[in-house]
Amino acid sequence: MKSKYQKIKGTFDILPPDTRLWKEIENILHNISQQFSYEEIRTPSVESTNLFQQNVGYETDVSKEMFAWEDQSKQQIALKPEMTAPVVRAYIESGFFRSNPLCRLYYIDSFFRREKPQKGRQRQFNQFGIEAFGSSSVEQDVEVILMASTCLKALSINETILHINNIGSPDTRTKYEQLLTKYFLQNTKALSNLSQKRLHSNPIRILDSKEKEDQLIIQNAPTIKELLTNTEKTDFNVLLSNLDALNIKYEESPHLVRGLDYYNGTTFEITTKSDKSQNALCGGGRYDFLVEQMGGPPTPAIGFAAGMERMIIESNHEMQKNNIDVYISCNDLKNSTKCFSIMQHLIENDYKVFFDTNKKSVKNQMKDAIKRNVSFVLVVDKNMTIKNIKSHEEVVVSDFQQLLNFLKTQ
Ligand code: HAM
Repeated sequence: MKSKYQKIKGTFDILPPDTRLWKEIENILHNISQQFSYEEIRTPSVESTNLFQQNVGYETDVSKEMFAWEDQSKQQIALKPEMTAPVVRAYIESGFFRSNPLCRLYYIDSFFRREKPQKGRQRQFNQFGIEAFGSSSVEQDVEVILMASTCLKALSINETILHINNIGSPDTRTKYEQLLTKYFLQNTKALSNLSQKRLHSNPIRILDSKEKEDQLIIQNAPTIKELLTNTEKTDFNVLLSNLDALNIKYEESPHLVRGLDYYNGTTFEITTKSDKSQNALCGGGRYDFLVEQMGGPPTPAIGFAAGMERMIIESNHEMQKNNIDVYISCNDLKNSTKCFSIMQHLIENDYKVFFDTNKKSVKNQMKDAIKRNVSFVLVVDKNMTIKNIKSHEEVVVSDFQQLLNFLKTQ
């Protein structure tokens, strides 16, 4: 039957049993975050549009593809397309930077980008991410990458590649932009139409192009490595040797600049090994100047975000069985109050209960219970009979305590 209403293009329902899978995966990510001593942050779904335009960058796809509008009181607001800018806003606005110099936060949330939907690319999607404020040391970079790698391992996502780069300071980036512009101008005619447009607005973004005709030109483009200072080069080597020691495999990707304006220093992305277009599971890097740019004190920071949908597609995590402990079978309205009282007590004692409110025949309820993978059936008529579905053992119990004793001995 065709539904009278359809979901909005690029959005998805998550239905059972997938919701259980999501919950288990979310729980794994909550637990790992807490093991690494990160605390959860939640921010509103809407923010001022200029929070993203000014800080993620006017010319970035993320800013251009926002769901943004003017509300009834003429405020420009947007559904959040990413979380780094809102977390920085909250970090400054709440004064967190004063009380918590080494501040480590994580989130699982929904984001909105008005991109062309395709497999792995949605208009509403979910991210798990972390942001670590207050340390400029390379050890902080190692910790963040170790956390990303631990999460993917815990979700049984095996075939991945960590691409890593150092894009230096904003000064280096400006010099690199000039170098790249010069190089691409020499090759303008061979570039795709999209890259020709970007050449004037955001030449660095050409490096992210997936267009076939751009690939050879990108391969031969100058890398930022040549422009790094000695300290930046040394830090990068320390980072790589730590990853070696942790047995975290990586590929140096000298053209990995990431599509958001706030990055400097270490940038990284974790992709699947397939070369399909939406293969990035996770992306992040340093943004040491963003807090100050947004009005806070100078504060180094680094983080990453991973797409939940993409991780779930790649995960080999095995979902736990959804076993019901006790199925309450009752087909006489007279006994329903007694059933509810038992249900209430069972739930208070941590049992998982299913009560058939449709009043099917006991025979049909038994069939239904077996289909639902139930351990015990409690038939409530003038007596109460508890049956163990596997062993077929059954006893008549006179009160809840006797029922509990029976369940505990099984
Ligand atoms: P991002 O690279 O834009 O970074 O997004 C991170 C991840 O979110 C991507 O690797 C991808 O898995 C997922 N993702 C992005 N867009 C979509 C989409 N339309 N549909 C499905 N999944 C998507 C950021 O958002 C930065 N805020 C990450 C960060 C945190 N950097 C520092 N801290």
